Amino acid sequence: MSKANKIHPLEALKQNPFVLAPMAGITDHAFRTFMRKKKAGVVVTELVSAHGIEYKSQRTLDLMSFDEIQRPIGIQIFGEGPEVMAKAAKVCEDMGADFVDINFGCPVPKVVKKGAGSAMLKDLPAMAKLLAATVAAVKIPVTIKIRSGWDANTRNADEVTKVAHNEGITWVAIHGRTRAAGYSGQADWDYIAEVKAKAPLPVLGNGDILTARQAVERLNSSGCDGVLIGRGALKNPYIFTDALELWQAEKGLVAEQVQGKERAGRNFSVLFQDLAAEIVAHCDDHITQIQLKKFAAWFATGYPGASQFRKSIFQSKETKEVYSMAQDFFSGVGGFEQEDTSHEAFLMGGHG
Ligand SMILES: Cc1cc2nc3c(=O)[nH]c(=O)nc-3n(C[C@H](O)[C@H](O)[C@H](O)COP(=O)(O)O)c2cc1C
Repeated sequence: MSKANKIHPLEALKQNPFVLAPMAGITDHAFRTFMRKKKAGVVVTELVSAHGIEYKSQRTLDLMSFDEIQRPIGIQIFGEGPEVMAKAAKVCEDMGADFVDINFGCPVPKVVKKGAGSAMLKDLPAMAKLLAATVAAVKIPVTIKIRSGWDANTRNADEVTKVAHNEGITWVAIHGRTRAAGYSGQADWDYIAEVKAKAPLPVLGNGDILTARQAVERLNSSGCDGVLIGRGALKNPYIFTDALELWQAEKGLVAEQVQGKERAGRNFSVLFQDLAAEIVAHCDDHITQIQLKKFAAWFATGYPGASQFRKSIFQSKETKEVYSMAQDFFSGVGGFEQEDTSHEAFLMGGHG
C-alpha cells in the first residue's frame, strides 16, 4: 500500500466536514469506497481488535484493507493495555492508514468487561497512559471516539477532551449518548456543543443525523469541527452528497442550479449497481448475498412497497435473484419522495 498520498484528516475536514461513522459489519471496504464516491469527507473502518492485529488473523487484516480512493481513511482499533494498542497502531501506520482511531465508545458487555471500549471512560488515568503509548508509537494522527460518559451521573466528555489534548490526540468524536443509554432516547447535541465550546482540540459530533439539512444544522449549531453520520447513510445514501452541497452553497462555493441538475439525474437502480459492484469485488458469494440483502432493505426505507420487497429478498437464496429483485424495485422508485421514517426504531445497537 502506497504511503505517498496520505491525507491529514483535519485538512480533509476543512474541505468536507461530513464523516462516515464506523459501523461494524457495514463500513467495510466496499461500503467505504462507495461512500467516498458519494462524498463522505473521511471514512473509518469498523472497530478492529488490537489483539487480533497482534496475531495477524486473516479476518482482522481483511477488515483493515483499503484502497487509495478511500483516503483519508482511519483504522479504528480497540483493546486494553497501552502496549498492545501501541503495537496495533504501528501496524495501521505500516499499512498506510492516514490515521488511527481508538474506540472508547463501544458499550457491548464483552468488550467493556475487559476494560476496553466505553469502560475506559471510567478510568481517565489509564486512558491517558494508553493514549501516550499509542501516540508515541506512530507519526500519523491518532483520534478517539467516545460516548458522552459512562452514565447520566458521570458524563465526562469535557474531561476526556483535556486528557486527549494533553496526550497529543488530533480530535475527539462524541456520540452524544452515555454508555448506559445504549441507543435509547436522543443524542444530546446541547451537551456536545457545551463540550466543544470548552474543548482544547477539535471535536466531532455524532448521533441521529438523518438528513443532509440536519447534518449542516448540527454542524453549525454545535460549533463542531465535523459531524459523523452513521445510520442516516443507510436510509439515504445521498446524505453526504447533499450535505456537502448545502454546506458549500452556504459558503457560496456552488451555485444552486448545479445541485438541482445533479439531483434530477439520480437513479436508484444505478446507485445500487454501483454498490453491488464494490461488494462483488471484495466479498465471497455468501457475504455478497448478505450485504446485498441488507443494503437493499435499508435503501428501500420509506418507498412504496418496501416491506413486501424486504420479505421477498430475505426469502431468496440466490445472489443473482436478490440483485435482480433489487434492480426491479429500485427502477420503480424514481418518481417517489422518500417518506419520513425518523420515528421508527432503526438499528438500535452497535459498537460505539
Ligand atoms: C450496526 C452498528 C455498528 C456500529 N459499529 C461501530 C464501530 O465498529 N465502532 C464505533 O466506534 N461505533 C460503531 N457504531 C456507532 C456509530 O459509529 C455511531 O456512533 C452511532 O450509530 C450513532 O450515530 P448515528 O445515529 O449517525 O448512527 C455502530 C453503530 C451501529 C448502528
